[in-house]
Amino acid sequence: MISDEIRRKVERLREEIHHHDYKYYVENNPEISDYEYDRLVKELKKLEERYPSLQSPTSPTQRVGGMPVERFPTVEHPIPMLSLENTYSKEEIREFERRIHRELPGEDFEYVVELKIDGVSISLIYEDGNFLRGSTRGDGRRGDEITTNLKTIHTIPLKLRKKVRGRIEVRGEIYMTKSGFLSVNKERKEKGEPLFANPRNAAAGSLKLLDPRITSQRPLDNFIYLFPYSTQVPIPSTHMECLEKLKEWGFRINPYLKLCKSIGEVINFCNSWAEKREKLDYDVDGMVIKASSIDQQMRLGSTTKSPRWAIAYKFPAKQATTTIRNIIVQVGRTGALTPVAVLDPTPLAGTTITRATLHNEDEIRRKDIRIGDTVLIEKGGDIIPQVVKVVESKRKGMEKKFSMPKSCPVCGAEVVRLEDEAVSRCIGSSCPAQLREKIAHYAQRRAMNIEGLGDKLIEQLVDEGIVSDVADLYRLDLDTLSGLERMGEKSSRNLLSQIEQSKSQSLSRLIFGMGIRYVGIRGARILAQNFRSIEDLAKAGEEELEAILEIGPRTAQSIVLFFREKRNKELLDRLKKWGVRMKEEKEEKGEIPLAGKKFIFTGGLEHFSRQEVKDLVERLGGRAISSLSSSVDYVVAGKNPGSKYEKAKKLEVRILSEKEFKKLISKRGREDKEVF
Ligand code: IVH
Repeated sequence: MISDEIRRKVERLREEIHHHDYKYYVENNPEISDYEYDRLVKELKKLEERYPSLQSPTSPTQRVGGMPVERFPTVEHPIPMLSLENTYSKEEIREFERRIHRELPGEDFEYVVELKIDGVSISLIYEDGNFLRGSTRGDGRRGDEITTNLKTIHTIPLKLRKKVRGRIEVRGEIYMTKSGFLSVNKERKEKGEPLFANPRNAAAGSLKLLDPRITSQRPLDNFIYLFPYSTQVPIPSTHMECLEKLKEWGFRINPYLKLCKSIGEVINFCNSWAEKREKLDYDVDGMVIKASSIDQQMRLGSTTKSPRWAIAYKFPAKQATTTIRNIIVQVGRTGALTPVAVLDPTPLAGTTITRATLHNEDEIRRKDIRIGDTVLIEKGGDIIPQVVKVVESKRKGMEKKFSMPKSCPVCGAEVVRLEDEAVSRCIGSSCPAQLREKIAHYAQRRAMNIEGLGDKLIEQLVDEGIVSDVADLYRLDLDTLSGLERMGEKSSRNLLSQIEQSKSQSLSRLIFGMGIRYVGIRGARILAQNFRSIEDLAKAGEEELEAILEIGPRTAQSIVLFFREKRNKELLDRLKKWGVRMKEEKEEKGEIPLAGKKFIFTGGLEHFSRQEVKDLVERLGGRAISSLSSSVDYVVAGKNPGSKYEKAKKLEVRILSEKEFKKLISKRGREDKEVF
């Protein structure tokens, strides 16, 4: 018999985790630290393992990925999933307007204009507010049921945040972030697996994996943009209200949409995104223009292919053709050799392209890329474009095949390619190219943040033998630095003070800066939270590391190997001798500066992004939360602080200006530079 108390506890934990998932993943506004969150999940998992009858398909523990399947069942879409008619010019947008006016003469229209997310469309079905199943578009009538894979995406609610009776269907797009795509490809490259051509293919490939545990590792996200079906709750009368409702229920809605009252406004809004979209961390291939009134949508109806009430305006393609002048080889931090195509300069989506990455030898062979070839290039999620394919009809027969050099183009050491890897590596232990990359990695803003240590300077330091590992940076003095090219006394002094400051960077930055394979920023933060000193981390075994949520077996193995290596141990000893902080400050001081303090940030801040202040407060032991009550310690009010400011006054919560907040944290010996 399971007591009511246990049942209630499981329910409560689930509700809490759903809530924090929403705050963290959808709103990007976490209320608790990762550490506390992990504790809740662990506790729930333990209870579900102990009392299997309490398991539930909508429990947040189901996100980690269930058992692999042999194939996906096919499901029929009750309402077909149509596609959109494409347009490419403002004239065609005006034609769309004329057409709908012809269909519904004398009526006024309002339009909702949204970003067209370049991903994979999906349908999600909920029953009484619980996620029931999700599927791909397929041929529009029938798609693959991929519920388990979709559950691994944290921004897809397993339970809605409001009571929603009966069945509803929503539709949206699954996409992979551009940054996520880069790291997935980087990892695949290291493992010798074929690379994804762009984030869309990567998202599609990830959704089609038969093992949801692998899908759960992929950086997928979603936006919902349609509410086509409901059995009991009424569908609002405009598309705009539908989106608002969906947002209230916990779905992730893209924030960059606009309600336009005229087609001129629609065109301006579309134009305003042509360049801006490049700054987003997901691919947007156009805009979608929708008549907002649902009644008008119904009366306009659809053709067999697409609705008459909406069209897509597509941005010019991010592809171009050019010629490969040469193929050169670059050497990375781990010694990996990357072939790079030197191209005839060609304009593409706002920049002039001169290089394209070719990844590795296999990739070149697979695509049969030769020097002198005319190629189609594409800007995917990366600033560096990729070669999509060779335009074979342009071959003249003079093109030259490429082969990987047998020795490192930088240090001349042997190049090896392990059997199960696609990458060739320079094995020279003192290869300057590797060293340069290692130092740049250590000094970068997100690691030890040594401002002023640019690529050119690193090159001089390495080439002249002044620095032969990162610990040597701490040996630099004014004489040496100011004797270098382009280094005056002032810039040398500045750099020395930056190097000095880097000694007190946080543990997580140091861990990240060490450049352990597979340990990115987030991984480093999680490790720092769990170990609190480099020594403790170095002592950890694979099992202990793997027990940490989010640290997989491959990362665990890589960490252990890193600390086993004698040279790395010696390097850390030397860094320690130079006074580089090896522990989380909290322990050293025996006090946590903002321990337990609750902060609310409201209004625009001048010096920090929202994420930055949150990270900062959390690092100092406090919590940045979103709901205001009298238990809050500080409300930090930026520009136009809104209603929370008034409420804080009423509740007599201490209100700080941004300046006062900066003082509060620096009084405790900190600077805002420490923010990740
Ligand atoms: S509405 C009847 N809104 O574009 C289809 N679609 O080319 C109504 N898409 O299949 C779709 N962003 O996968 C809509 N904001 C958005 C969209 C969007 C991307 C995709 C969707 C659709 C394709 C049509």
